[in-house]
Amino acid sequence: MSLYRNPRAPMAGILDDIEAMRIIDRSGMLRLTEEFPQQCREALEIATAFTARLSAPQRPANVVITGLGGSAIGGDMAASLAAIGGDVPVIVNRDYSLPGFVGPNTLVIASSYSGNTEETLSAYAQARSAGCRMACVTSGGELGRMAEADGVPVCRVPGGRPPRASTGFLFIPTLSILHAHVPLAKSCSPGAISLALPLLEACSVKWGRNAPLDENAAKQTALRLHGRIPIFYGTQGYRGVLATRWKGQFNENAKAHAFAYVLPEQNHNEILGWDQALTQAQNWSVAYLRDPQETDETPRIAKRVDVLKTVIGNRADQMDIWAEGSTLMERMLSLLYLGDFASVYAAFLNGVDPTAIAGIDLLKAELSQFPG
Ligand code: F6R
Repeated sequence: MSLYRNPRAPMAGILDDIEAMRIIDRSGMLRLTEEFPQQCREALEIATAFTARLSAPQRPANVVITGLGGSAIGGDMAASLAAIGGDVPVIVNRDYSLPGFVGPNTLVIASSYSGNTEETLSAYAQARSAGCRMACVTSGGELGRMAEADGVPVCRVPGGRPPRASTGFLFIPTLSILHAHVPLAKSCSPGAISLALPLLEACSVKWGRNAPLDENAAKQTALRLHGRIPIFYGTQGYRGVLATRWKGQFNENAKAHAFAYVLPEQNHNEILGWDQALTQAQNWSVAYLRDPQETDETPRIAKRVDVLKTVIGNRADQMDIWAEGSTLMERMLSLLYLGDFASVYAAFLNGVDPTAIAGIDLLKAELSQFPG
């Protein structure tokens, strides 16, 4: 049996039915996903023009990127690159308040696609009171208004998309602002993104709607995970960040539960959860997000995956999902991109509109009426 046949997915045919996908996909999430390489190209132009206007950015002692959801993940990606190719601490904050250490030597980058996320607005206000150096990435909203009134540099990106379909517009300016203050190694810098664009353009075709299921790794991944609880294990570094991204995309696009964790930490606690796995739930699926250079660069991590697969054994379906490309940036962006596509196809298999986010919208509306 082919790996991408799944008896729990009688809907599998939808992935090769362009008209049926179009009907479910009322707001065009698949088109936005296919256009990700163009978005990255545009984001590079916006970010380059923006950082050129920054007046004499000074090196901070530390950096805090603050944002939530789709606006935080670009910060995670930038922080994972800074951990390899930079020499100041960079953390990502997903809360109303910032850590107590922030002060005049901290660079705070506030990232909110809508510009209206209350946690980010609150963190922005705290950064201002603490006298931090600041920059914002947003399409506008209250954050855009406040920052402009305060004279804080704002990298404005085009609006009108779901934040999670705007990763190019959020990640690339964030990385560029970081690089302007703390020069990163070439392989981790925005320049490496330009070089990764041809690979992303090729991925857009081979994972896009017109590539049939038989040849399309994104459709096959969605199908294999359908009807199961996906657990995404990032095998280290940026793969841990992307495990969180894959989880979030399956949550938001496919409206399905998914979980994410990272090695080697998984080997020190969660590994034991597999003992009771079959009494807690059936139909788990473990997807290891991997880098082809792992075996050479981090053989102990590759060994950990082998042993973990044996420990999990037949308690779950298990698969490797490999990043593509030769450079670090290509591998990071291709692995991000495959998950974005797979989650959109997973939505179609579930018969749900990938763009709709009723639960998040309700929560934000209720909170906006709540005093205090
Ligand atoms: C919606 C999405 C959410 C938002 C989050 C914060 O597509 O991805 O996770 O990113 O609710 O909103 P913004 O990004 O506007 O600050």
